[in-house]
Amino acid sequence: MSAHPALSSAIAFGEINAPNRVFMAPLTRCRSQQPGDIPWELNAEYYRQRASSGLIISEATQISPQGKGYAFTPGIHSPQQVEGWKLVTSAVHERAGRIFCQLWHVGRISHVDLQPDGQAPVAPSAQRAEAKTITSATSGRVDVSMPRALETDELPGIVEQYRTAAANAKAAGFDGVEIHGANGYLLDQFTRDGTNRRTDDFGGSIANRLRLPLQVAEAVCDVWGSGRVGYRVSPMGGTGDLKDSTPDETFGELAEHLGVMRLAYIHAVEAFRTYERNDENERIHAHINERFKATGGGIYIGNGGLTPDEADRRIRDGLADAVAFGELYIANPDLAERIAQGGPYNKPDPETYYAGDSGQQAGYTDYPSLEQANA
Ligand SMILES: Cc1cc2nc3c(=O)[nH]c(=O)nc-3n(C[C@H](O)[C@H](O)[C@H](O)COP(=O)(O)O)c2cc1C
Repeated sequence: MSAHPALSSAIAFGEINAPNRVFMAPLTRCRSQQPGDIPWELNAEYYRQRASSGLIISEATQISPQGKGYAFTPGIHSPQQVEGWKLVTSAVHERAGRIFCQLWHVGRISHVDLQPDGQAPVAPSAQRAEAKTITSATSGRVDVSMPRALETDELPGIVEQYRTAAANAKAAGFDGVEIHGANGYLLDQFTRDGTNRRTDDFGGSIANRLRLPLQVAEAVCDVWGSGRVGYRVSPMGGTGDLKDSTPDETFGELAEHLGVMRLAYIHAVEAFRTYERNDENERIHAHINERFKATGGGIYIGNGGLTPDEADRRIRDGLADAVAFGELYIANPDLAERIAQGGPYNKPDPETYYAGDSGQQAGYTDYPSLEQANA
């Protein structure tokens, strides 16, 4: 008998059968092989160690050179990257796991030093974010650059970047993809009215602001079938200097459209760094969950600041169907087993989240499993 029976129970959604509801949240770790932002054996080992998760969602992965916003994050646009990801997906599959690729275009959260030919990053509107990035091992944290507004006739090209990346993820052996619509990156920038000041068909009304995100979802579903596609949102999140004046309506409408498209899941960052759980936030997340399912959507994955006890209770109370864990997964490769046993849990070290002076493996592949700790 599991110490957390709801989290340890199996769940089916879309085309996926997961043996438990302990999902691994997408976690940027800045440890791809250089040059070329290529996944390699070190990354394969990290994900292999975490393969008992009901579903691994990969770290955010840039869909194109333009979609990159930080040094050392992996891509899924070059043949070498696709080969590198095959190491990761086979490692997870050898241990009977499932892994989705998180498709990422950072939009304005980038820097000219990271962009092709030193060009300005792109965004819905030419508004600079109050945000930082790192551009090299020695850059330290620097302000992101002033972006330029995308021309209307460039937007089909953005949709194509997602379509190609989705096809590459398939070729690389992933089990599905998660569209990164959260945390202030490109699709979130289009969705929310604080960053989208466009006057064409892609700005203004909620329907217009959702046009690009929904075109992307359509394109990705064309490649994968909707039963292998999820979408991540952070309706109350301020990461990347983002705001929306009516998050319940904006994200409720998005959830409804994604439900109609029969996506496998919607994944909500309910609390993270700049915001906490409160009654208002909980109401909005419940509203999204409800509208997604009412229109035919799959499951609702909750995330953010939850202990295993709280997560188990949320599933039992019907507030989530599965829970993704971020920081706990950094430190506990066998989190699903530990949760079933009721702990104990290793503590993560934030100093090594994005690689560090002590090398790439430190704080990455060296957290012990219970079995190793007890050996
Ligand atoms: C080191 C680190 C990297 C992260 N990278 C990503 C990412 O690549 N994509 C994403 O959607 N969220 C990312 N997040 C947010 C997490 O997925 C998650 O929403 C957050 O950590 C809150 O969940 P937790 O309290 O269980 O850690 C990151 C968080 C951390 C701490």
